[in-house]
Amino acid sequence: MFEAIKSLPSDPILGLMAAYRVDNNPRKIDLGVGVYKDEQGRTPVMRAVKQAETRLLKNQDTKTYVAPAGQDNFNRLIAGLIFGEPLVNSLGGRRVTFQTPGGCGGLRLGAEFLQKVKPGAKIMVSDPTWANHIPLLGEAGLEISKYPYYDYTNHAIRFDAMMDSISKAGAGDLVLLHGCCHNPCGADLDQSQWQEVTALAQKNGFTPFIDLAYQGLGDGIAEDCFGVRLMAETLPELIVVSSCSKNFGLYRERTGALTVISANAGSTNAAGSQIASIARSIYSMPPDHGAAVVSEILGDKALNADWEVELAEVRNRINGLRTELVDALKAKGIDQDFSFIQREKGMFSFLGLNVEQVHSLINDYSIYLVESSRINIAGINSSNLDYLADSIKKVLTA
Ligand code: LMR
Repeated sequence: MFEAIKSLPSDPILGLMAAYRVDNNPRKIDLGVGVYKDEQGRTPVMRAVKQAETRLLKNQDTKTYVAPAGQDNFNRLIAGLIFGEPLVNSLGGRRVTFQTPGGCGGLRLGAEFLQKVKPGAKIMVSDPTWANHIPLLGEAGLEISKYPYYDYTNHAIRFDAMMDSISKAGAGDLVLLHGCCHNPCGADLDQSQWQEVTALAQKNGFTPFIDLAYQGLGDGIAEDCFGVRLMAETLPELIVVSSCSKNFGLYRERTGALTVISANAGSTNAAGSQIASIARSIYSMPPDHGAAVVSEILGDKALNADWEVELAEVRNRINGLRTELVDALKAKGIDQDFSFIQREKGMFSFLGLNVEQVHSLINDYSIYLVESSRINIAGINSSNLDYLADSIKKVLTA
């Protein structure tokens, strides 16, 4: 039965990791997959995570099953991190949160839930969006369409076109929004734009589905949740998927959450029972370790404070690198204006190169980036910046 199987091309983002690993060029630079790197090019285990793991190793006294929803303690603490305590309290039984195997697990669980309660539900995603949104949502059976989002020429959000497009979504439809640090373009809605989208959702009745994978990497832990919190305060229904991969550096531990808010506690209970049954039918229950680490950190004042300090260091380093890259490109005498990179947020921005130029960076200079010209800013450091700026100049002037 396996003879006729066709091979698939490698994943457009994860495939870059493999290609980078086997490249022998000592000057190679990895700007592909979205993982944080420090000045030495390492992706460190955060200090608070190490301490929490030490405590767990010492104190954990069982490895028995948890539940399809994961740990209650984690779910309560992560909801507090996303929405803030006052809002969690005021939402009460209207909110349910499920620990999931990473943000991907949360997105797929959310999509399977929607497919179960409204088969073939329509979901609009931004153009562009994270490449993996399409299979994660589409292979569950949701019908995906795109709304205009990024203006590649002016490096700004096409807000009027976006509003015009999503105004066609109505009750029973979904609109996927990036909570902060848009992946791949780094251009985020400002506060007044979030207010307009929220008012539109309220008027037309569509349900926002927010992907919050980078909380704390843009402007701050609370600041990055402006839109999420506004929508949770205002709208009867909301779906939020969050990830602890980047802000806790727990990538391989697969730690994330799916939160569903509905109009009343009765509907939320029913939704929770459906989600539990779907989780049970796919993976039974999520892996524990990463969530146990996050609970240990968020539940302890000193660990939490240290985590916040280290997360601020990560955020400030990325924002500093944005300025350094813009300055380095200017110093090379490149005509093009790259100042938009400084205005954008989070790990990613587009360089604005065409596919041939991207391939040349990869093949001729061993600089790995996604074909759309998305770069992971965190892969830059003081020892590769000059080579990077020089190589960009060369492909632009070739
Ligand atoms: C990325 O966009 O590079 C990250 O979210 C990692 C991934 O799984 O694609």
